[in-house]
Amino acid sequence: MKKITIVGAGRVGESTAQILAKEELCRELVLLDIQDGVPQGVALDIQQSASLLRFDTKVHGATDAAAMAGSDLVIVTAGLPRKPGMSRSDVLDANLGVIDGIVDDVLTHAPDAMIMMVTNPVDVLTFRVWKRTGWPRQRVFGQSGALDTARMTAFIALETGYSAKDISGLVLGGHGDAMVPLARFTDIAGIPIEHFLDAEALERIAERTRQGGGEILALKKHSSAYDTPAAAIAAMVDAITHNRRRILPCVSILDGEYGLWNIAMGVPAVLDENGLSGIIELHLNTAERAEFEASATLVREDIERLP
Ligand code: LAC
Repeated sequence: MKKITIVGAGRVGESTAQILAKEELCRELVLLDIQDGVPQGVALDIQQSASLLRFDTKVHGATDAAAMAGSDLVIVTAGLPRKPGMSRSDVLDANLGVIDGIVDDVLTHAPDAMIMMVTNPVDVLTFRVWKRTGWPRQRVFGQSGALDTARMTAFIALETGYSAKDISGLVLGGHGDAMVPLARFTDIAGIPIEHFLDAEALERIAERTRQGGGEILALKKHSSAYDTPAAAIAAMVDAITHNRRRILPCVSILDGEYGLWNIAMGVPAVLDENGLSGIIELHLNTAERAEFEASATLVREDIERLP
């Protein structure tokens, strides 16, 4: 990709910009924020590390949405983060107006872009963006499963002592307390996870995964997580920019897959140069299906709150 815009120069936006620049995942990177001086300062700080980190990505900061013109991808991280004790749904009302405004800017200035949603509650806001743009679902998707799965594999690495590099997992569903970590699709070096961990350990890891963001927020108090969220965004961008056709769980608009329509939530998706170019439909067993549907019900409740 030639040009990527990140809307929101907060912690997630900044960390993402740092990785995208360092990994040279585009030629030109724009950070947009409404607070004058902030995106410019963040961009300059990252740009100054170019010779040390050995990249030549051009990084700019701006407050004028026109700066996103010509972007291949717009990553939306702007909005109010939750405070300790809040659920992601609690920030829906506050973030809806922000996101609608950003969508209108993208429609005006970058009508050919793809949009990757990150702002919470990410499932319902991805749905909102898809509706408001009227674009095909290939070009509107969200980040959450890559993050949730990374957390799950990190916890498995900690618990077993084996390399995180050999661990592959899968977390589906909405990005909330009812997300669905799937032990049956988790392995270490191809060996099913049940070989290493008993049911009790797996349930403990699943629960820690569901609370993964909340655990960090409770520790830090004034900030949500941003390092792993940014790394998860970068993994998705890397798949798109290099046309890798990676299978990553992404917030996807469902059109009959998993028996659901008119909803956005996390399912395994194929990411390539066209964006979200396919959805993998798994045969879930009865227990997995029940968890997936419970998660869908919560996402649906948020969608029904949309004006
Ligand atoms: C988290 C927030 C960003 O999971 O949703 O850390």
